Amino acid sequence: MEKTALQQEIRRLLRERHAILLAHYYERAEVQETADILGDSLALSMEAAKTDAEVIVFAGVHFMAESAAILSPEKTVLLPRADAGCPLADMIAPADLARAKQEHPGAAVVTYINSSAAIKAQSDICCTSSNAVRIVNSLTDVGEVLMVPDGNLARYTARLTDRRIIPWPGHCPVHHDLTPEAVGRAKALHPEAAFAAHPECRAEVLEMADFVGSTAGIIRFAVASPRREIILGTETGVIAQIARIAPEKVVIPASDRLACRTMRLTTLEDIRDALVQTRHVITVPEAVAGPARRALERMLAVS
Ligand code: 13P
Ligand code: SF4
Repeated sequence: MEKTALQQEIRRLLRERHAILLAHYYERAEVQETADILGDSLALSMEAAKTDAEVIVFAGVHFMAESAAILSPEKTVLLPRADAGCPLADMIAPADLARAKQEHPGAAVVTYINSSAAIKAQSDICCTSSNAVRIVNSLTDVGEVLMVPDGNLARYTARLTDRRIIPWPGHCPVHHDLTPEAVGRAKALHPEAAFAAHPECRAEVLEMADFVGSTAGIIRFAVASPRREIILGTETGVIAQIARIAPEKVVIPASDRLACRTMRLTTLEDIRDALVQTRHVITVPEAVAGPARRALERMLAVS
């Protein structure tokens, strides 16, 4: 079926099912165009918590749909691709976190939203890439902070706060693979360009950036920057949104490997099928969802 016809069919199905389609900026452009709400992890979790739709279709990866199911347990949450996971979220197991908590008694556990429900359930508070500094600063009377599972985000946050942060040795393969050499080459080719990077990039790359922020932050920076050329240090899905708002901008990916395989899995056909067949329903047992919800709601209260 042709793209526009599929998009129209999805919009009709969404109306019939009293459903809402949430999509992350890393999704395919045609999926982004079809969404009710397009956003970064924080904006999408806020929307999932407050929507009055009966069904939430999440065009994103598993932890995003799982967070929606935790925040809105009375809603049906659908993940169109069951195989859309996040390798970073898989870099910490519940038993490992339990052991780390024993090794650092008294440490506050700040958990990046890119994590499983079982990890969130063992945490004091969640954060996203757009509020990590604010979340850590909001913690009073804590000595150490155990920040999981993204080591680069933890080290970046440590630089901007005066807290003692213990980083977990996890990373996002997409952002961590971006090297300072690749950024240097892009800068040499485009000397007038500004460089914007996601805090999941390694510290040496972040040091080279004119701006560091979440996907929504990077989009805002690119649109508002007086520079026409922007070198991009995040997943290239954001280019579609920058082009919609500011078509005059020239966005140059800092490397040709900035694509998240799992974020790109979801097609319009998958979304249509998810609505027709009510699949794949994401649920979290209340014993895990309860404590995970407390960590997520604490984050939303500070955001
Ligand atoms: P945002 O917090 O910018 O949405 O990032 C999510 C993510 O998965 C980054 O890789
Ligand atoms: Fe996970 Fe990285 Fe993909 Fe984001 S870009 S969903 S952190 S693998």
